[in-house]
Parts: sequence; C-alpha cells; structure tokens
Amino acid sequence: MRLSLGRAFHAGLALGTVLLSGFQARASDQTLIQRGAYLARAADCVACHTKPGGVAFAGGYGIKSPLGVIYSSNITPSRAYGIGGWSEAAFAAALREGRSADGHRLYPAMPYDSYAGMSDDDIHALYAYMTTRIAPVDKAVEPMTALRFPYNWRSLMRLWNWLYLDHKRFAPGPDETPLQARGRYLVENVVHCGTCHTPRNFMMASKAGHKLEGATLGGWYAPDIAAGENGPLASWRDDEIMTYLDNGHVRDKAVAAGPMGEAVEHSLRYLTHDDLAAIASFLREHKRSARAGQPVGAVSATARLYAVDSASDRETRDLARQERDADPAPYADRRNYRDIAGGAALYVAACASCHQLDGAGTPDDFYPSLRLSRTVRAQRPDNLVMTIMAGVNRQGADRTAHMPAFRHDLTDRQILALVRFVTRHLAGTDTTLTEAEVARLRTLDTEDFPAQSLPPGSAALNEKSANQTRTP
Ligand code: HEC
Ligand code: HEC
Ligand code: HEC
Repeated sequence: MRLSLGRAFHAGLALGTVLLSGFQARASDQTLIQRGAYLARAADCVACHTKPGGVAFAGGYGIKSPLGVIYSSNITPSRAYGIGGWSEAAFAAALREGRSADGHRLYPAMPYDSYAGMSDDDIHALYAYMTTRIAPVDKAVEPMTALRFPYNWRSLMRLWNWLYLDHKRFAPGPDETPLQARGRYLVENVVHCGTCHTPRNFMMASKAGHKLEGATLGGWYAPDIAAGENGPLASWRDDEIMTYLDNGHVRDKAVAAGPMGEAVEHSLRYLTHDDLAAIASFLREHKRSARAGQPVGAVSATARLYAVDSASDRETRDLARQERDADPAPYADRRNYRDIAGGAALYVAACASCHQLDGAGTPDDFYPSLRLSRTVRAQRPDNLVMTIMAGVNRQGADRTAHMPAFRHDLTDRQILALVRFVTRHLAGTDTTLTEAEVARLRTLDTEDFPAQSLPPGSAALNEKSANQTRTP
C-alpha cells in the first residue's frame, strides 16, 4: 500500500504537481527505513539470522551453546514461517522480552537481554524496515532447534527472565555527556559488545557487575575492554579505538581476528563516524568493577619496550642457522617444513615473508608488526595460538586482510616453538604456553567456527547485502 502510494506521488511530481506534504511523508519514510536497515546491521540481526550462504534474514544460523545447538529463526515477513502479520507490539516483545508472537519463549541465544533497553523509536524503525523491505522467504528453518531435556522445555525461560532479564529501557545517566550516553546505548543495547566481552555464568547469563571484563569464546579470548590500567584503552587514543572497530587493525597495536574480525566485517564497519566516536567515548568512561582482579588479557609486564634494532633480521637468521646446523635433515626439502622443530627456522619458513625477518612487518602496515602487537604480548597466549591456527580473514572498512590458516600445516609442538620464538625474540616478552595448552586450543578451533562459537554475535552473510553503504 505504502509503496504504491509512493509511486503515485512520484508520478504526480513528474507531472509538475506540487504535493509538498506528500513528498515530505515519503522522505521521512525513507529516513525511517534507512535507519532500520542501519540498525539491522549494527545490532547484528542480519548477521545472526542468516546462515552461511543462505538468504538474508531467513534464519538457520547455528549457535553452539552448552545446552545444544540453537538455530536462529526466519524473520523475513513470511506469513507462514516468519514475522509476516506480526504487529509492532509482538515484534517488540520478541526483541525485548524474548516472547514469540504465539507466546513461546525464546532462548537467550537471541540477545533480548541486550535489546530490552532498546528505544521505541529504534524498534519502530527496525519494524518498518523488516516488514516492508525484505522479501518473504516461505520456508521453515532447517534444522530445528532440539535441545536436551530439560532445556527443550521453553517455559524454563520464564524463570531465566525472572532471574536475569532487566526490563528497564535505556535512560541517560545524570553524569553522562550526550556522547557517552549514546555510546553506552550502542554498546549495551544495540551493538551488544557484551555478548562476547562480558563473562557468563553457567546459565548463559551475563555476570552482573563484570560488564566488558573479558570472556572466552571457544578458543578465542575477547579481552577486558573496560577502562583500566592494563586494558587496551589505557594506551589507545579514541581515534585508534574507532579505527580498530572500523578497519579491524591499528598500527603497532592490534588486529581483529576470529570473532572480532566477524564483528568488524558484518557490523562495526557499517557504523557512522559519530557512532564510533560515541562508543570510544563511553568505553573510556566505563570503569572495571572494584572486585575484578588483574585483567587476564593484560599485556605482559616483562615486555621490554625495545629499541628498533633489538630484534634484527640478522638475529633471526643467526638463530635459524643455529637450529638448522643442529638438525639439518628436515631442510633437505625446502618447501616442506613439517619436520622442522626450531622456532626461528619455522618463523623464517612460514611467517617472515609477510611479517619480515625482524618481525616489524611492512612499512605500509599491510603485513603488521608482531613486536608491539597486543596479541603477541598478552599474558594469555590464546589469541596468538588461535591466529596462527585459524589465520585472519576479514573485510574491514578500508581493506581486506588475509593471513593463511596454519592449522593443517603445523603440529602442536611446532606452534609452541613458533610462539616461543615470536614472543621471546621478536617482542621481548615471555610465555608460559605449553604443548598441552596448544592441543586443548586445537580442540576448540573449528574451520566453521562461526557455528561453533558461543555466542557468535555475527555470521557469514551473502555479499550482495554486504555492499550497502552506511546511513544512520
Ligand atoms: C546472536 C544471534 C542473534 C542476534 C544478534 C539476533 N537474533 Fe533474533 N534470534 C536468534 C535466535 C537463535 C532465535 C531463535 C531463538 C529460539 O529458538 O528460542 C531468534 C529469534 C528471533 C525472533 C523470534 C522469531 C519467532 O518466530 O519466534 C525475532 C522476531 C528475532 N529473533 C528478531 C531479531 C532482530 C530484529 C534482531 C536484531 C535487532 C535479532 N533478532 C538479533 C538469534 C539472534
Ligand atoms: C563476536 C564477538 C565479539 C563482539 C560482538 C565484539 N568483540 Fe571485541 N573482541 C572479540 C575478540 C575474540 C577479540 C580478540 C581478537 C583478536 O585478538 O584478534 C576482541 C578484541 C577487541 C578489542 C582489542 C582488545 C585488545 O586488548 O587488543 C577491542 C578494543 C574490542 N574488541 C572492542 C569491542 C567493542 C567496543 C565491541 C562492540 C562495539 C566489540 N569489541 C564487539 C570478540 C568480540
Ligand atoms: C601471507 C602473509 C602472511 C603470512 C605468511 C603470515 N601472516 Fe600473520 N598476518 C598477516 C596479515 C595480513 C595479518 C592481519 C593484518 C590486518 O589485520 O590488517 C596478520 C596478522 C597476524 C597476527 C595478529 C597480530 C595482532 O596484532 O593481533 C599474528 C600474531 C600473526 N599474523 C602471526 C603470524 C605467524 C606466527 C605466522 C607464521 C606462522 C604468520 N603470521 C604468517 C599475514 C601473514
């Protein structure tokens, strides 16, 4: 109805009839729809409700949870299988209270505990966009979610909601600047960074009082991003936080790999400059809880802030030569580093072509420096091991980043040797990593990790819809 009216107005204008009020209605409709489309990306609706290679919003994306795999719903406006025919109130109840239109309870894999605080205006914009701009997909989601008893008993979620769901709508705090308030709203109620960065209890609920203080996602570790002495925010400028969220890399600081790379690719790179600034401003103010101890993602205190020449090409070559002289056999076949045991020799064979012999990366930062990288210097070696196993595959706002995955090429022992070389000789830190720990992380590494990580927050998305520009 709305569409055909719009077309009629358009025709009227073409005939030279000035229908000013009608024209304005159309323009504001357009703004509303654009806002809804923006929110669907920012809040990850599209990423989480699209299965890899599937139609956008048609559901079927699997989220592995301790209770079993939970598949996202078809939320296209299909009357039989989606949200076609849902009132805006029913849509709002699903988003904020985890209640489907037929009354059944949703599992908290749908982050309604975050969206509970979402504003009426934003829900309205999302509803307008989702019900008018998306083609209905008349197909049931496959496979169906089938959790173990007693979790298959959805009414249990009433109890969950009673225990954990905060029904409060977002409201700015008395001491907050408008920018910080906007940032908090985005972080907590829209972009829901806490889905990954806030630790959870055994019931999958965020741990109260530990917002953004760091959590594991499969083998990855989403570090503490609350403002604290050792957090990334202590040494990052606001524009660096913004660049990290937008592009997925900040020179000499960090790279977004794994789930964070997904968040950048599917959601964060579409955020406007103003929204990125708001997030940075809020994060700077968000203090860690007094109860929390040393953040485990902290950078090692033993890191020497080395002079540029402390790890040189020469040092790497000498170490690699010593290793080879001690055990020459594996080097007979130059393309095969399967049997090489030494960390320096492995680094020369597998990493130096991109990250350079001295670990300083390339001058244009296309291949990043490993010397000051937070991933390399972090006290927890998880993300360094996971990056070597899984590589980097990310589309940021500025460019595509690709590092090959070495999971099939390197053994646990080789990865350990590499990590020791990279941390000790390139970054001047130490590592407590053991071979058993590499083996444990390997069991958590999966090639299709989006379907495995809990909770994902984002998923593969078909390229066509990924090419939209940002509009608030
Ligand atoms: C982290 C993944 C995730 C994100 C992000 C997410 N959803 Fe969901 N959503 C789910 C899952 C999983 C279900 C099904 C839960 C169940 O079966 O209990 C679901 C269910 C729903 C339902 C209920 C459908 C029905 O038929 O009952 C609606 C509506 C919905 N989501 C809309 C949205 C919107 C709108 C957004 C963005 C604001 C969004 N979702 C973001 C995972 C997600
Ligand atoms: C899908 C899960 C996920 C979501 C959503 C997510 N993050 Fe992350 N984040 C991670 C992981 C995992 C890492 C570690 C990545 C790495 O080292 O390659 C990370 C790293 C970071 C870092 C770098 C920290 C450091 O010490 O190097 C910052 C800053 C950050 N995230 C901020 C945010 C903000 C702000 C949001 C919301 C706007 C957000 N993240 C949303 C999973 C996530
Ligand atoms: C083909 C080139 C290439 C090779 C070979 C390569 N890398 Fe990378 N590496 C990259 C790229 C590209 C990035 C991400 C850059 C970005 O995100 O902008 C990266 C990122 C990383 C990071 C993340 C840095 C951070 O700050 O979080 C680590 C750690 C890393 N590589 C280690 C290694 C190790 C160890 C090896 C050898 C086993 C290796 N890389 C081999 C290209 C490569």
